[in-house]
Amino acid sequence: MLRLGFLASHTGSNMQAIIDACTAGTLAAEPCVVVSNNSQSGALARARQANIAAYHLSAQTHGEALGGAILAALQRHRAEVICLAGYMKRLGAEVLTAYEGRILNIHPSLLPKFGGQGMYGMRVHEAVLAAGEQESGATVHLVDEEYDQGRVLAQEKVPVKAGDAPETLQKRVLAVEHRLYAATLVRIAAGKIPIPLPHCRA
Ligand code: GAR
Repeated sequence: MLRLGFLASHTGSNMQAIIDACTAGTLAAEPCVVVSNNSQSGALARARQANIAAYHLSAQTHGEALGGAILAALQRHRAEVICLAGYMKRLGAEVLTAYEGRILNIHPSLLPKFGGQGMYGMRVHEAVLAAGEQESGATVHLVDEEYDQGRVLAQEKVPVKAGDAPETLQKRVLAVEHRLYAATLVRIAAGKIPIPLPHCRA
C-alpha cells in the first residue's frame, strides 16, 4: 500500500476524491497524513472526518521552522508520496529534497499554459477565458523548485463553452481533476509511472 501525505489549503475536494478512491479499493493506497496552512480549511475537516492525522502548520505557527515541521509530520506518518491538493504555499527545501521525484501537484489548466507564480485557482480560469481559449484542462505533474514546471504525468482536455464564466469552467475542470488525480496515482501504485519509491532519504 502506497502511503499518501497531503498538503492542502482550502476545500480539499481533490484530496477527498483520492481518499474516496482508496476507500472504494480502486486505488491501492493509504492516506496517512494531511497538512494545511489554513486552520479553517475544508481539507483539515475532511481529514478528521476520515480519521486521518491532520496538522495545521503555517508560517504563523512555525515561522522559520515551518519546512522542518512539515517534513517531520510527513515522516512521522511514513508518507511515501506527497500529493499537493490545492496547496497555495511554496514548498520548503526540506520537503523538496527529502521527497524529490515523489511530490505530485494538480493544476487546473493545460500546463505549461496558464501556470507559474500567481496562477492558481479561479485566477487560472479567468485567464483562460480572457485569452479566448477554446479548451482548457487539468494537469498532474511532479513538483520541483519552480512553480508548475515539473514533469507532466497526466493531462486531460476540457472544452471551453460559449458563455462560460470562470465558475462554470472551474466546475467542469474540477470534475476532471478528481478523476485524473486518482487515476494517476493508480498508475503510480501499479508501477506504470516509475517514481523513486519507497523510502524518504532524509
Ligand atoms: C484545484 O482546482 C486545483 O487544481 C487548484 O486549486 C483547486 C483546489 O481545489 N490548484 C492550483 O491552482 C495550484 N496551482 P480543492 O481544494 O477542492 O481540491
